[in-house]
Amino acid sequence: MPQIIEVCPVNDLPPGAMRLVEWEDLEIGVFNCAGNVYAIEDRCSHDDGPLVEGELDQETCTVECPRHGSRFDLRTGKPVTLPAYVAVETFPVIIEDLTIKLEVE
Ligand code: FES
Repeated sequence: MPQIIEVCPVNDLPPGAMRLVEWEDLEIGVFNCAGNVYAIEDRCSHDDGPLVEGELDQETCTVECPRHGSRFDLRTGKPVTLPAYVAVETFPVIIEDLTIKLEVE
C-alpha cells in the first residue's frame, strides 16, 4: 500500500536546495530544481554514492554522484553519464497545504 509522508514546508526547500528524508530502510533525496520538486533514492546505482551530497544542476535537472561522477536525471532517475547505467528509483511528489509530501511504498 502506498503511503504519504511529509517532507517539509514548501518554503524550506527553495530552488537549488536538497534534503535527505528517511523512511523505514529507504533514504530519499528531495531536490528543488528551478521550482520543481523531485525525489529519488539517495543511493547511486553504481556503488551506493550519496546523491544528495552531489552537485545539483538546475538547468539540466541532474545531480552528480559525489563518488565517481555519474549524473542522474532527477525526473526519471536514469543516469545520463557513466559509470552508472541503471536507473535509481523515483518517488511521486505531492505539494499540498504548502507542504512537500512523498508517496512511498
Ligand atoms: S557510486 Fe555513484 S558513480 Fe560510482
